[in-house]
Amino acid sequence: MILRPRTVDVDTIFVLGAAMYKRDLEQVKVAREWIVKAARCARVCLADGALDDLRLCASETVANAVRYGDAGQLVGVLVIERPPHAIRVEVIDQGNMRRPPHIPHIPHRDPDVAAGLGTESGRGLKVVNSLSTSWGHQRDIDGPGRVVWFEIQRRAAEPTP
Ligand SMILES: Nc1ncnc2c1ncn2[C@@H]1O[C@H](COP(=O)(O)OP(=O)(O)OP(=O)(O)O)[C@@H](O)[C@H]1O
Ligand SMILES: [Mg+2]
Repeated sequence: MILRPRTVDVDTIFVLGAAMYKRDLEQVKVAREWIVKAARCARVCLADGALDDLRLCASETVANAVRYGDAGQLVGVLVIERPPHAIRVEVIDQGNMRRPPHIPHIPHRDPDVAAGLGTESGRGLKVVNSLSTSWGHQRDIDGPGRVVWFEIQRRAAEPTP
């Protein structure tokens, strides 16, 4: 797995950290805390509330990469500073073996699944959609998997460092 930013113009960013993890649920909390630590090194200074949002989004996207990236054994993570206001996280998996393949989506928007609102799963990307400023996914241009990214912006009320 190559660790380089995939979803953003590299001339306009700073990479705060790049790491690779074993595709193992035990690694989710390790990756999540490392992501928050890397984000704290940014010049874009997120308040504690925004860092909590980042932590939750990190947890959900890394857990998904572990769960659905079953065609490989690695999960990659990049933490990126996007001046002047945003931290962006890219989570890279190695694809899945399901036919048709799993594609990131918000189940609530799928009328076939709407009846399952009471279920315990299918919430992760909804959380990411609510807490992040923006998010998205694309096929990995460097491999067979997917890149799921999200961005958290400093809120207007927060003081400039
Ligand atoms: N990295 C990914 N690669 C491929 N498909 C994905 C990926 N992440 C999510 N998906 C797809 O999007 C769906 C919704 O993801 P989401 O995280 O919202 O729910 P979940 O993982 O099914 O349940 P929960 O997160 O609540 O335990 C998943 O069921 C899966 O089909
Ligand atoms: Mg999930």
